Amino acid sequence: MNILFIGDVVSSPGRAIIDEYVPKLKEKYRPAVTIINGENAAGGNGITKKIYKRFLQVGAQAVTLGNHTWANKEIFDFIDEEKNIVRPANFPEGTPGKGIVYIKVNDQEIAIINLQGRTFLTPIDCPFKKADELVESARKRTPYIFVDFHAEATSEKQAMGWYLDGKVSGVVGTHTHVQTADERILPNGTGFITDVGMTGPYDSILGVEKETIINRFISALPARFEVDKKGRNQLNGIVLTLDPSTGKATDIKRILINDDNPFYG
Ligand SMILES: [Fe+2]
Repeated sequence: MNILFIGDVVSSPGRAIIDEYVPKLKEKYRPAVTIINGENAAGGNGITKKIYKRFLQVGAQAVTLGNHTWANKEIFDFIDEEKNIVRPANFPEGTPGKGIVYIKVNDQEIAIINLQGRTFLTPIDCPFKKADELVESARKRTPYIFVDFHAEATSEKQAMGWYLDGKVSGVVGTHTHVQTADERILPNGTGFITDVGMTGPYDSILGVEKETIINRFISALPARFEVDKKGRNQLNGIVLTLDPSTGKATDIKRILINDDNPFYG
């Protein structure tokens, strides 16, 4: 059983490459479920209902979020109604939306959990304690549990991977926009990667126009960030393969599509 996960989609370039390649990736890997991290999908910050629906149309069954969940105010109008959008579960009690969704695949369910790190990000509730709580309830329903841990610090993401090893099918890091090459199956059967990377402007700095960022470093003056829409594009993701009887990971593959790494179907 395969799970296809696409890393942080940035603005219109990210959405364009999603439209182009998600159908091809689905044909190649035949995932039981496709998940897109969409927290930067609207102009680089947040998500709209239209974009969320478009991700479902292109073949995703769930959309995860992160620290920019609330950046586009429209989110408050639809996050409670829409079944397949997942925001970090460790926001305080009473926050709109939900941190876990169950996707039905034939007669099975896949649990998808979104959590957010606290190192160099707003220190919301403890993601480890929240993981304990959600994983315990999810395991009563299904052995297939996937975690998108949206966090800045490599160490915090690795800590979550080891913490949940053997309890969930996969823990993938998002947020830092650069794909790490450390994908592996941890000893107790959890697929892990520190960061899946970013889907969007390839000739940019984390999605933003590089000239702006370079000038900011040189001048030390504040600058308005604009998404780079003039350069080339890339898609970053992973395919996680699970043993259907146990839910443990048997393989994790990085997906990297750009001009330097062309896609072969
Ligand atoms: Fe983020």
